[in-house]
Amino acid sequence: MNTFYITTAIDYVNGSPHLGHAYEKVLTDVIARIRKMMGDEVYFLTGVDEHGQKVQQTARARGIDPQQFCDEISAEFRALLPKLSVENNDFIRTTEERHKVVVRRILQQLFDKGEIYKAEYQGYYSTRQEQFLQNKDRNPDGSWPELFGEVTEITESNYFFKLRSYQEWLVEFLTKNEDFIFPKFRQKQVLEFLKEPLNDLCISRPKERLEWGISLPFDEDYVTYVWFDALVNYYSAVADKPGVWPAAYHVIGKDILVPPHAVYWPIMLHAAGLALPKGIIAHGWWSINGDKMSKSTGNFVEPVAFVEKYGVDALRYFMLREMSVGQDSDFSDTQFLARYNAELANNLGNLLNRTLNMTNRFAEGVIPIAGEAGEPEKELQAHWGKTQVEVAGLWSDFQFHTALEKTMGFVTATNAYIEKRAPWKLGKSTDAADRALLATSLATMAESLRLAAVLLQPFMPGAVAQIQTVLGYKPTGILAEELGWGGRLAGSKVAASLVLFPRIQAEATPVKS
Ligand code: MSP
Repeated sequence: MNTFYITTAIDYVNGSPHLGHAYEKVLTDVIARIRKMMGDEVYFLTGVDEHGQKVQQTARARGIDPQQFCDEISAEFRALLPKLSVENNDFIRTTEERHKVVVRRILQQLFDKGEIYKAEYQGYYSTRQEQFLQNKDRNPDGSWPELFGEVTEITESNYFFKLRSYQEWLVEFLTKNEDFIFPKFRQKQVLEFLKEPLNDLCISRPKERLEWGISLPFDEDYVTYVWFDALVNYYSAVADKPGVWPAAYHVIGKDILVPPHAVYWPIMLHAAGLALPKGIIAHGWWSINGDKMSKSTGNFVEPVAFVEKYGVDALRYFMLREMSVGQDSDFSDTQFLARYNAELANNLGNLLNRTLNMTNRFAEGVIPIAGEAGEPEKELQAHWGKTQVEVAGLWSDFQFHTALEKTMGFVTATNAYIEKRAPWKLGKSTDAADRALLATSLATMAESLRLAAVLLQPFMPGAVAQIQTVLGYKPTGILAEELGWGGRLAGSKVAASLVLFPRIQAEATPVKS
């Protein structure tokens, strides 16, 4: 069996989870579910990033101990996962012993190999980004970009990791492995970044300034720089699980690709003698109603409140349907409601209602055996043949928004097929040919619904499980066995009714908290 290891970024615990965090978890979950359906042994890791200045400051401002603060917020992040129908195998916290041990082991190893040295640093430091700055980071007018927050001038001794000496190796690696980063244009950006000489990476912070971190194994007066600590989570969580590392794909946001994931992490692994992950998937960012997400201005979506209001499957569907992986997208009530009503309520929901209603009305609730296929059935089957091939390709290219569009296109075609066959007319006829056609059309619509549900399963696992239940169908869970057009529903007893996605009136909006 093929091991497929997939990770999300680990979230900072200095605030509550928002839509961006939720999206990344769901995107990763969709990929994990697809690989499971394909027969891979999936290991899905997510977690939280608990050290560093931001957490220390936020905890102090609240007057509580950082560990207690982390415990509270981490519990919130962890509780979000089942609410999003995310099926992770593991949840790592960087304050856990299993993580700290591995970070310290790697640090010691690099120190012993001479990859880490001590030097005096004099220069500018951004607390918000926990990063040392250079003059080239300034705005053209000499000021510091806003993203750095307050910048202070400091002089201190610190430990440095020899990033520079691996620059050529990394360029060569990325040049040889063109598909290491998805989307491709991001890999080009990394190579662009690597045209400038790298600075060695300062991997320590003196405890006088920052206590909340992992002590350096070779100098207890310092803690480890939060990024060096955090990146190691991907390895520390599975270090004792044979066969998992390096079968890894990292799903992250575009903001943390360069330099942490695309430069520091590969070099850290290589210097420590560890294999590199298989790839990195960098997704875009959500804005809300055209603006940056911000709690202070109220431009914010609480994933839990949203799920409670509209259901988890609707949220998962919308996020994956709306955003092209790698590009930015905007989240608005209007766009959510438009898609919900058109695609979930009126298209998929309609097919489900019609299938159940008509099977009950005209066939005593039992899906009939299909007779010989006529032109409309052949057309629909051909549409299915094309859809499943296209969707498989789109899935493997992470083009989930288009995959969903094609899948829903097949649902639309099935609804059009129903219009053409008009079973409600056939049901009134006593003619033998019409009765045969009625059986064929009921069987065809049920089979189409079953098939569409297979392709929707990774995106809307709860809704699909309900569809399968009301169709009286038990899936194998193995993609290759589910995709063939056949008569496997014949004789199934369907439920009386199920309204999965009730239409929402446009007035009943606010998703903002
Ligand atoms: N702790 C670091 C990651 C360490 S990984 C070894 C961090 N945390 S974060 O909480 O700021 O962000 C976590 C993830 O959420 C990142 O991948 C980030 O890109 C993503 N998002 C944060 N805001 C987002 C949006 N508005 N939209 C989409 N994703 C966003 O960075």
